[in-house]
Amino acid sequence: KKVVLAYSGGLDTSVIIPWLKENYQCEVIAMCADVGQGDELAPVREKAIKSGASKVYIEDLTAEFVESYVWPTLKAGAVYEGKYLLGTSFARPIIAKALVDIALKEGADAICHGATGKGNDQVRFELTVKALAPQLKIIAPWRLWDIRSREDAIDYAEQHGIPVPVSKARPYSMDRNIWHLSHEGADLENPANEPAADVYLITTPPEQAPDKPLYIEVGFEKGTPVSVDGVKLNAVALLTKLNELGAANGIGIADIVENRLVGMKSRGVYENPGGAILYFAHRELEYLTLDRATMHYKEQIAIKYAELVYDGMWFAPLREALDAFVDSTQQTVTGTVRLKLYKGNIMSAGATSPYSLYNEKIVTFGDSEQLYNHGDAEGFINLFGLPLKVRAMMKAEAKKT
Ligand code: ARG
Ligand code: SIN
Repeated sequence: KKVVLAYSGGLDTSVIIPWLKENYQCEVIAMCADVGQGDELAPVREKAIKSGASKVYIEDLTAEFVESYVWPTLKAGAVYEGKYLLGTSFARPIIAKALVDIALKEGADAICHGATGKGNDQVRFELTVKALAPQLKIIAPWRLWDIRSREDAIDYAEQHGIPVPVSKARPYSMDRNIWHLSHEGADLENPANEPAADVYLITTPPEQAPDKPLYIEVGFEKGTPVSVDGVKLNAVALLTKLNELGAANGIGIADIVENRLVGMKSRGVYENPGGAILYFAHRELEYLTLDRATMHYKEQIAIKYAELVYDGMWFAPLREALDAFVDSTQQTVTGTVRLKLYKGNIMSAGATSPYSLYNEKIVTFGDSEQLYNHGDAEGFINLFGLPLKVRAMMKAEAKKT
């Protein structure tokens, strides 16, 4: 029997290897996904083998992650509960898809992940497997074994000759990729606590950011970001650049008590410097280019889209259908947005688009009689207001009787 394991190189997923072999008498193939988490992945291969894996795959998914998961979500404007830019949520389906691809290639029987039984990640991994290869079994050790704490995991590792990290681990549960870094647990579990200053690993705390604003220019083509300060960049280079500029200026910290799919609230602190800039810039361009009805409808879609992504429904037909809607709206979302970054704030500093619907000749307080007849407004208001008038008349009549 063969099992493909989502492997990070950390203590938890290392311990899973001997546990699987002991409990399932199987061969373990480790798959480590590079989604731009910034770890050096060469030592991970050796670590997996030392822990007992028969084979290791290191898959570079970063470009596909940004182009096919991050950009569609950005174009949709999807933000979970008004704050969370979904950094972990859409990383799980691409990792699970890689697990499935390897499982099929290797003729494996099952896939295994290291997510706990209390969180969202288990749902995201497993819904993806169900959508792509329903015949594969799923093993979730955290729902099965007696390991409950880091100390338990260290004990188990020591008993099984697994290398245990010497450095003291940070107390937070973290998940990092090129889009974001999440922090949960420890002192953050009490929502009354302000995040300690040393929580942040990417972003300069706003109060330590430069006293001088930084102006940047982001270019979009059909809703997809394509350039920074006039220089065309590929997806990974562009996001990396904006992460640097944003982080230096204290941009993109989100602190939220969020509703997990499994029913509980949890508190998370997210670092998303490039993402915050891109969401802001993209929206600025939509203010210029989308008509009112499309824009307002798209705002409703964004909420649903975020829910689907958060809930692990990436490979669901509704998400694909919403993408078709979003792509249709993005045909004219092309242009350049200038922003001012200053101590954690993003401010607009001008936007242009060849498809702008903003018409100065119409909106001007000066003379515009050729394009807009003030007199038309009276008839418009009479009809638009007719239901209100009818109701007011009814109420007046009803009072009499
Ligand atoms: N709460 C966030 C989410 O559900 C982040 C989860 C982070 N996962 C982790 N294994 N540290 O998307
Ligand atoms: C986990 O429980 O594995 C991490 C948190 C989450 O999935 O929401």
